[in-house]
Amino acid sequence: MKIVVVGLGYLGATHAACMAELGHDVLGLETDVTRLEALRAGRVPFYEPELEVLLQSTLESGKLRVTQSYQEAADWGDAFFIAVGTPQRKGEYAADLRYVESVIEELVPLIQRDCVIFGKSTVPVGTCARLADRAAELAKDVVVEVAWNPEFLREGHAVQDTLRPDRLVLGTDAEGGLAVVYAQTIYKSLLESGIPFLVMDCASAELVKVAANAFLATKISFINAIAEVSEAAGADVNRIAEAIGYDERIGNKFLKAGIGFGGGCLPKDIRAFMARAGELGAAEALGFLREVDNINMRRRNRVVDIAKKSCRGSLLNKKIAVLGAAFKPNSDDVRDSPALNIAGQMQLQGSTVVVYDPKAMENSKRLFPTLEYASSVADACDNADLVMVLTEWGEFTEIDPIRLREVVREATVVDGRFCLDRDRWVSAGWTYHA
Ligand code: UGA
Repeated sequence: MKIVVVGLGYLGATHAACMAELGHDVLGLETDVTRLEALRAGRVPFYEPELEVLLQSTLESGKLRVTQSYQEAADWGDAFFIAVGTPQRKGEYAADLRYVESVIEELVPLIQRDCVIFGKSTVPVGTCARLADRAAELAKDVVVEVAWNPEFLREGHAVQDTLRPDRLVLGTDAEGGLAVVYAQTIYKSLLESGIPFLVMDCASAELVKVAANAFLATKISFINAIAEVSEAAGADVNRIAEAIGYDERIGNKFLKAGIGFGGGCLPKDIRAFMARAGELGAAEALGFLREVDNINMRRRNRVVDIAKKSCRGSLLNKKIAVLGAAFKPNSDDVRDSPALNIAGQMQLQGSTVVVYDPKAMENSKRLFPTLEYASSVADACDNADLVMVLTEWGEFTEIDPIRLREVVREATVVDGRFCLDRDRWVSAGWTYHA
């Protein structure tokens, strides 16, 4: 089966390389020339463990090629995957669907044989049906089916999540159509290894994705709400999370309290979900997600308050080392990063903020050019009045607090991710806050 993947960002580049790894002939379509050329040269223009090796091997074997041409893709492909972005619209909660829509507008008129377009991007419920109608209008004497095959990969684990997903979901409204057979062919080896394959209508498939992300966001904000109460009561939220996590109905994953969730998915997805529910007249059902969002954003303010208190009430003229800029470890993604948001707030309160992150420096500088940047932990912490660990990179959890103490002005640390060994830092003479 000849597979075209449209949009070669985190999702698309990973999907394209992984489908080639599964043995398919894959053509990746990317209209951003800089990105395309990097990929063609075997370079992944973002940090994602394992992906570059896979990209290079699949390019070398000829299983994966890349192009900028819709015409070439349309002439060649049997199955098309849409993997373009659906960011939050400026000043609104709703998702911006212009990139997804433009794929249909550009691609479908060029297609000359029956085929299936699988949407992978996260979209508001109802999008697939609307795109299917539009594709039917644009198709010239061929059947162009539009189905939805949501993606559940996590940044930092993208390759493994694609090659060994928890489940595969397919939404199709075309009875007796091609989508199920095509998906079974494409994912044959995964299905043979026992991965659950759930076929449903398009609306349900679209909702599976946003419901999953909303649930994950809720779980994080739930434990962060318990953290707020724990702080007030003098209790330890980590012990509470550990204890409730033993209940299999609750589970211990995604119960890590701290400065909350960020990134290009959870924050914008819960907002787009609320916006769409509102359009459908079901706003009340998702009212709690507003609180999930509020709790999450409150964490960022709370850690600034903790920092301020630990600097004796004022951040003015303090030098603050911020360790971590990515929204989570093993990623260079700084979209809606809690770490950078906090760094920005501290700077606005008059401190000099010096940021260091193992992988996200370039992206951070582009987004927050007015912050200062250091090239190592020691550089960032040089003469610091306060050290803040805001992304739980292994490099930070392994810091030797005895040696770091020698470079700072004040041995005070704020652990925004509960990732440091408190006792170790305290016995090395640090004042520890979390
Ligand atoms: C998320 C979902 O986990 C994926 O299943 C989904 O496919 C993806 O969004 C998407 O929609 O494309 P991702 O954005 O890569 O994946 O990041 P997560 O691993 O979910 O982490 C999100 C944020 O939550 C991070 O800032 C992380 O630090 C934070 N987090 C996570 C916590 O604060 N506590 C936790 O216990 C877990």
